[in-house]
Amino acid sequence: MQRIHTEIVKIDPVHPEITKIEHAAALIRAGELVVFPTETVYGLGANALQTQAVERIFVAKGRPLSDPLIVHIADEDALADVTTALPAVVRQLTRTFWPGPLTLILPRSPRVPPIISAGLETVAVRMPRHPVALALIRAADTPIAAPSANRFMHVSPTTAQHALADLDGRVPLILDGGPCSVGVESTVLDLCAATPTILRPGGVSLEALRSVLPHVQLANRQNISTYDDSKRIEAQKSPGQMLTHYAPAVPLLLFDGTVGEMRSAMLAEAKWRREHDERVGVLVAAEDIATFEESGVLVYSLGDAAKPEQVAAALFAGLRTLEEAGVQVILCRSFAEHGLGLAIRDRLLRAASGKIFKAESGKET
Ligand code: TXA
Ligand code: MG
Repeated sequence: MQRIHTEIVKIDPVHPEITKIEHAAALIRAGELVVFPTETVYGLGANALQTQAVERIFVAKGRPLSDPLIVHIADEDALADVTTALPAVVRQLTRTFWPGPLTLILPRSPRVPPIISAGLETVAVRMPRHPVALALIRAADTPIAAPSANRFMHVSPTTAQHALADLDGRVPLILDGGPCSVGVESTVLDLCAATPTILRPGGVSLEALRSVLPHVQLANRQNISTYDDSKRIEAQKSPGQMLTHYAPAVPLLLFDGTVGEMRSAMLAEAKWRREHDERVGVLVAAEDIATFEESGVLVYSLGDAAKPEQVAAALFAGLRTLEEAGVQVILCRSFAEHGLGLAIRDRLLRAASGKIFKAESGKET
């Protein structure tokens, strides 16, 4: 595609300046792309009701048309414009979790162009809670389609700099509202399935969803095969589920086991690779840092292992930082699965292409 100039505009994340929002909204109304912050990750937005504008998203990202997009709205009334029927539980869910990191799969209104949903009869809708995202949608006066603002198959961006690294020359404007607070993408909940099903764990936890939907189930994402080019033309049933979806540019080895087992197995692997002159990066929790002090590896801490919100907020920046530092391999520990931990494990499994190194049991440090 032809290179264009990418403007970066710093914007107040709490009280966004009206002139800056107006500038971005004018681009959206004109069918152009705008990168903007949400509470989860940065989005690559276009007018959701204009097919040609939406096409630009796929071109800029290098994303296959078989992978559908989320439509972002700023108030609940807009639901009526993008869907046909609303299951009774929708109001309860939106009252509890909107605005916020929950995406609902609902029947698609004919007003929403088929390209948004890769031809599926459903549409993904979410109301973000970031003031910049909400102000932009309102000022543009249209729902905004937005995938994560990364190149296809790369790690989602949690800062404007991440988005710039992937999309420089491909979008006219990036609104820089600082780092995203949640750090993993929204939870995708399918309300068109016979039983409500989580297609992608994310910023709203399984435990929280169960308080409204006691029978909600988790789609089995582990059996999903890696990306298959032959599926390009046909919408996949649960499209975001390609196992390598979140792949960083360098291989990631994910370690499992007790904290002691993980530390000693990662240290042994790191030492062996250092002896073979490999540049090694490790993704750990703050309490693991001391283990790697003299090992000659690059250490990135994701924060307190007992606080999944901290780990989630740091995760994608950690992957990108190690990648940009030029390491040849990333060794990463696992985290508990409660709360945001489920989404963290999902993204790490994807980055590791589904392979986990189970530390030998009985081996203690
Ligand atoms: O947090 C987020 O959701 C971010 C911010 C920007 O809002 N957006 C995001 O979009 O992560 P994207 O395109 O990277 O991921 C959208 C996910 C994909 O897994 C896609 O397959 C799924 O939602 N999806 C979209 N429409 C769908 C549909 N009709 N049926 C099933 N899955 C759908
Ligand atoms: Mg994405």
